[in-house]
Amino acid sequence: MKITFLGHASLLIETGNHRLLVDPFISGNEKASAKISLSDLRPDYILVTHAHQDHTLDVAAIADLSGATIVSNFEIVSHFQGQGYEGHPMNHGGQWAFDFGTLKYVQAIHTSSFADGTYGGQPGGFVLSSGGKSVYIAGDTALTMDMKLIPMTTAIDLAVLPIGDNFTMGIPDAVRASDFVECDAVLGYHYDTFGYIEIDHQQALKTFGAAGKTLHLLEIGASLSL
Ligand code: NI
Ligand code: MN
Repeated sequence: MKITFLGHASLLIETGNHRLLVDPFISGNEKASAKISLSDLRPDYILVTHAHQDHTLDVAAIADLSGATIVSNFEIVSHFQGQGYEGHPMNHGGQWAFDFGTLKYVQAIHTSSFADGTYGGQPGGFVLSSGGKSVYIAGDTALTMDMKLIPMTTAIDLAVLPIGDNFTMGIPDAVRASDFVECDAVLGYHYDTFGYIEIDHQQALKTFGAAGKTLHLLEIGASLSL
């Protein structure tokens, strides 16, 4: 699996034969839109953790370009299906075997309304397993005891965790979250995009390092492989 950071909470995940885009928010993020072109992404699937605009802004535009199938909770998928898009609805605790691997939609503590106030179901995260590796994509969430359920069924190779604080976990709770999911390799996301979530990178790296963990902070457009 190759994971490319597209800014904020947006990721491109390349498995052997498929391209999965997570929470596309690029055109509204000037840090990302300068480097990433929507038409280059070409996803087969778009995974959406929750309905907030900083996670859904470019879903329709990219699905228009690539014909991707949108995977999210029932309410978000119904919203996009109502506009004519392909979708695969899930809900918490449910797992499905896709052609790229398996996805499980897991709990997050957050909210999930669309920008116009429309109900976007309950927010979640994903456990993605593909090619013998598993990644936990937390979505926007507080630290939650439910994270302890994840390693009971799946050994996590990389935890993608929000670290920007204010709207989600901050760094100390993200360290605890990595304990809860029993994974010492963390990709931080949901930081620096706007003023409420700016972080001190050196302090973040130091805090994870002191806990015996590796925090990856990728430049926009940079990748890591599992
Ligand atoms: Ni959110
Ligand atoms: Mn967010």
